[in-house]
Amino acid sequence: MSFPKSFLWGASTAAYQIEGGNARSALWDWERKKGWERSGEACRSWDLFDEDLKLIKALNLHAYRFSVEWSRVEPEPGRFDQSVIDRYVSWARKLGSEGIRPFVCLHHFSEPAWLLREHPEGWLDESVSGRFLTFATRVARALAPVVSDWVTFNEPMVFLAGAYGFHQFPPGRWMLTDPRKQFIPVVMPHMAAAHKRVYGMLHDLQPHANVGIAQNVAAVEPARPGDEAAAHTWDLFMHRSFIDMIRDSQDYLGLNYYTRIFVSKTRVPWMPLGTLPGYAELEKGLTWPVFKMLGGRRDGKPRTGMNWEVVPEAFGPLVLDYHKSYKKPIYIMENGMAEPSQITRTEFLRGHLSSLKSAMQAGADVRGYFHWSLLDNYEWGSYRPRFGLYTRARRPADGADFYAAVAASGEIPNG
Ligand code: BGC
Repeated sequence: MSFPKSFLWGASTAAYQIEGGNARSALWDWERKKGWERSGEACRSWDLFDEDLKLIKALNLHAYRFSVEWSRVEPEPGRFDQSVIDRYVSWARKLGSEGIRPFVCLHHFSEPAWLLREHPEGWLDESVSGRFLTFATRVARALAPVVSDWVTFNEPMVFLAGAYGFHQFPPGRWMLTDPRKQFIPVVMPHMAAAHKRVYGMLHDLQPHANVGIAQNVAAVEPARPGDEAAAHTWDLFMHRSFIDMIRDSQDYLGLNYYTRIFVSKTRVPWMPLGTLPGYAELEKGLTWPVFKMLGGRRDGKPRTGMNWEVVPEAFGPLVLDYHKSYKKPIYIMENGMAEPSQITRTEFLRGHLSSLKSAMQAGADVRGYFHWSLLDNYEWGSYRPRFGLYTRARRPADGADFYAAVAASGEIPNG
C-alpha cells in the first residue's frame, strides 16, 4: 500500500524555537534565570521565512505547521502589533499560494512576560483563559481568509507539567508531587476551558475550521509484572485525561510521538500519583543508580540525542489504539529524533513511517504526518540536540532527501 494521495506530508516548527529574538516572552528572562544556553537569534526565521519556504518546497511538503508568538502579537496587554499579525498572514498566504496547507498553532509553550506579571499564578488563575481567547480571536480574524487548520495548544500536559509541575517553564511551580491538589482540579480544567472557548470562536468564524490540539503521547509499558496499574494511571493522566476533557471540542486528534516509557509503582512520596514514569530526563536528574533503585527501567534500544529510546514498532499500535478510543481523524503533529543519535534519521523515518502505514492498513484514519522538525532549533535550554531536516545554516541533514522522496511519491523507498 502507498500512502493515500490526499495524505499530508508536513513539518512542524514553533515560533520561540526558530524565530529568534522573542525578548518579550516570559521565557527570555527565564533562560537567564535557569542558566540555560540562550535562544538568541535561533534560526532567524522571523526574518528568513522565505528561506524556510524554499526548504519546505525542496522537501515536497503539502503542509507546514508553525506557531504564532503571543508575545510578538500582543507585546503589552491589549496592545496588538498589526505589523506582526500581517507578517504571519503573509506567511500563510505564501504557503497557500504554493499549495502548502498552513497549520497554525496558537500556543507552543511560550507566553508573554506581561501575562505572568499581571497573573503571577498563570493558569491557576481562571482569567488567563480570557486573555488567551482575546489574543486568539485577534489572530484568527486576520488569518481566517488563508488558514482553516488550527492547533490551539501544543502538548498542554508537557507545558503544564513543566510550568506548574517541576519548575521547567515559567511561572515555575512544583505542584506535581500531588497533582490531585491543584494540577488536576484547577490548572488542567482552566486550560481545557480556554481550548473550548477558542474552539467555539474558531467555528463561529469558520464553520469548516479544523481545530484540535497536539498531544504528546508516549508508548507506556509497565516496568515489571505488578506495575500494570501504575502504567495505566500514568497513561490516563499524562496522555488521555486532557483529550477526554475536551472530547467534544476537537475535529481531529493531533498526536506527537517520540518514544516509550516504562512506568513503575513507587512509594516515594514525591513521585506523582505513586508512579515513577521512566523519562530519560528523570533518569538524568536522579542519576542512573538512584533511578534504578526507585524502580526505574530502560531497555536496550538505540537512543537519540535526547537519550530517548527509538521504538518505531510501538508507534503504529499506539496510533491504532487512539483511533479505536476516539474515532477521529488523526494527524501526527510531531515525530522525529535528535542528532547525535545511535541511528540515522533515514532509519528513524523508515521505521516510524512503516509502522504508521501498518496502523493505517489496520484501519486507523490518519490524514497527515508532520516531521519534527524543519530546522535544527532551540531545544528549550540548548542547541545541542539537533532535530532538523536542515541545519540552522539551512543545509540539508541526513534524512532530508529520504523524506523529500517519501513526500513526492507517497511510498517508503526501499533500503
Ligand atoms: C515539543 C517541541 C520539542 C520536541 C522535542 C515536543 O515535546 O512540542 O517543542 O522541541 O518535542 O523535544
